[in-house]
Amino acid sequence: MTQDNSSQDKAAGQNGGGDLFNTAAGWVLFAAGLWLGLSILSGKYFHGDKPERPEKLGYVIEGVVEEGGGAAAEMSMAEALSMKPAAELVAAGEKAFAKCQSCHTVNAGGANGIGPNLHGVMGKPLGAHAGFAYSAELKAKGGNWDWDSMNEWLKNPKAYVAGTKMSFAGLPKIEDRAAIAMYLNAQGSNLPVPTFVADAAAGAEEPAAGETPAPAETPAE
Ligand code: HEC
Repeated sequence: MTQDNSSQDKAAGQNGGGDLFNTAAGWVLFAAGLWLGLSILSGKYFHGDKPERPEKLGYVIEGVVEEGGGAAAEMSMAEALSMKPAAELVAAGEKAFAKCQSCHTVNAGGANGIGPNLHGVMGKPLGAHAGFAYSAELKAKGGNWDWDSMNEWLKNPKAYVAGTKMSFAGLPKIEDRAAIAMYLNAQGSNLPVPTFVADAAAGAEEPAAGETPAPAETPAE
């Protein structure tokens, strides 16, 4: 009795297994067909077969500070200047200026040291502080100290002015350069701080006043 039962069970089991196999095989075929269809479609419409790089990588989110100084895309000076209130940047810059104090004073009428006194340097022509013997290279560079030139200079003085006498490796972080430039700007200079306008796509608030369309170019006569 017991044996009969078990052999019946086995037979039933095999039948069931057969059905199950057919069903499973059906699903596998269906899935394979679906996959094939989708991969052809996506190849057609999304160029999945061609290794094209988008012009701008999608994962770079502007306005988001990367942790650890941002080895990838560095933010602009204007953006770095917008990250903190001015007073905080000035305070951070004053602290960071400790790196410069062995060579520079910044108070009004301060003495020249290894480097020139830096009072009011923002907005002044390069190499213009009275009584300091600048390198010929710095004097020949031309231009004024503004946010951009100061940014480049402090990032790597020797790259900005080859042959400069300033033996300072540079400040790799834009945050430090922005803070020091802001601090210098508060020591006898007062250049307008650039306003940071994020990409329209990044949801920037544009000033309403900026919406005036540029006048259409009308040819004279
Ligand atoms: C080891 C000494 C030394 C250190 C440290 C140093 N500097 Fe200088 N700096 C100089 C010298 C020397 C010059 C003049 C360069 C030349 O004539 O080529 C100079 C020039 C400059 C100038 C140009 C001034 C002008 O009148 O055109 C600026 C701005 C400046 N330094 C900022 C800084 C800042 C900010 C720091 C700190 C982050 C710093 N320096 C650190 C020695 C130094």
